[in-house]
Amino acid sequence: MAFSEDLKERIKKIMSKYETKQSALIPVLHEVQREYGWLSLDSMKEVAELLSIPPADVQNVATFYTMFFTKPVGKHIIWLCRTLPCALRGAQQVEHYISEKLGIKPGETTPDGKITFFEAECLASCGTAPVMLVDDELYENLTRKKIDELIEKLRAD
Ligand code: FES
Repeated sequence: MAFSEDLKERIKKIMSKYETKQSALIPVLHEVQREYGWLSLDSMKEVAELLSIPPADVQNVATFYTMFFTKPVGKHIIWLCRTLPCALRGAQQVEHYISEKLGIKPGETTPDGKITFFEAECLASCGTAPVMLVDDELYENLTRKKIDELIEKLRAD
């Protein structure tokens, strides 16, 4: 894999904001993931080369944080909070409902590649539990009706 000139330019711009190239690792990984949807081994190697760090260091960071995907994911990502306040407000029933609707379990992607469903720890909106993050948008006080509408929208996209 070779990054496009455009992506390399964006990476250089990110690196220029940091004192050392290595400090730019996390934002660079975000940029690469934005471009490809996930971080392949080849793209991690290329990041390592650009930042002059060992590929294993890049891989360690990419596999440590749940926000980085090291295998392909769907076009849309659902993160359902499962921490206690959400659990007390029905997160487990929400999980079952979403799994049933999508025909997948947490950690899986729908066969059409549209939606990946993950469980998450507290999304910092406990007062409006149960909540989920879909792509970058927070959905609160979840009900079956809200979930139905949202999934319909994601499937149509
Ligand atoms: S516990 Fe779900 S948002 Fe905090």
